[in-house]
Amino acid sequence: MTKASDIVVKTKQIVKKHGGDKSSLIAVLQDIQEAFNYLPKQALTTAAKTMNMPLSRVYEAATFYTAFSLKPRGENVVRICKGTACHVRGASALQDKFERTLGIKPGEMTHDGKFSLETVNCVGACALGPIVVINTEYHGQMTMNKVDKLIGKINEEGAQR
Ligand code: FES
Repeated sequence: MTKASDIVVKTKQIVKKHGGDKSSLIAVLQDIQEAFNYLPKQALTTAAKTMNMPLSRVYEAATFYTAFSLKPRGENVVRICKGTACHVRGASALQDKFERTLGIKPGEMTHDGKFSLETVNCVGACALGPIVVINTEYHGQMTMNKVDKLIGKINEEGAQR
């Protein structure tokens, strides 16, 4: 887990990189999330202070965009599309399968910090549904069998690091 002092230092660097201007708030939040994989509270208070803006405005932006997460997320974020097209093609069964395989519910992270599970609305690739997005990679025509293969592959890659 990152130390609070490291979060403060890194956040100040990010704000400085963007010129400290209030209009760069979203870009600052994006970089914070990229650095920590979520938006730590300490980072939001530091950003608000450094950019000289109310903390409430920073939280407003952080909670408005679903791409931002205020909760710690795993190294790998699994997003199951629950849009209509994916829903009719079995997204709920896939969600069950991911929940059983990873032992977590949407919004949760595995104990080893390796995976987070989320559900999202249409990700714009309905023709290939059901879609599961793992980190930035789209996996179309997802099946139960593919779930085990994908999770196994990610676990193996992690072990090789
Ligand atoms: S509903 Fe899943 S990609 Fe559109």
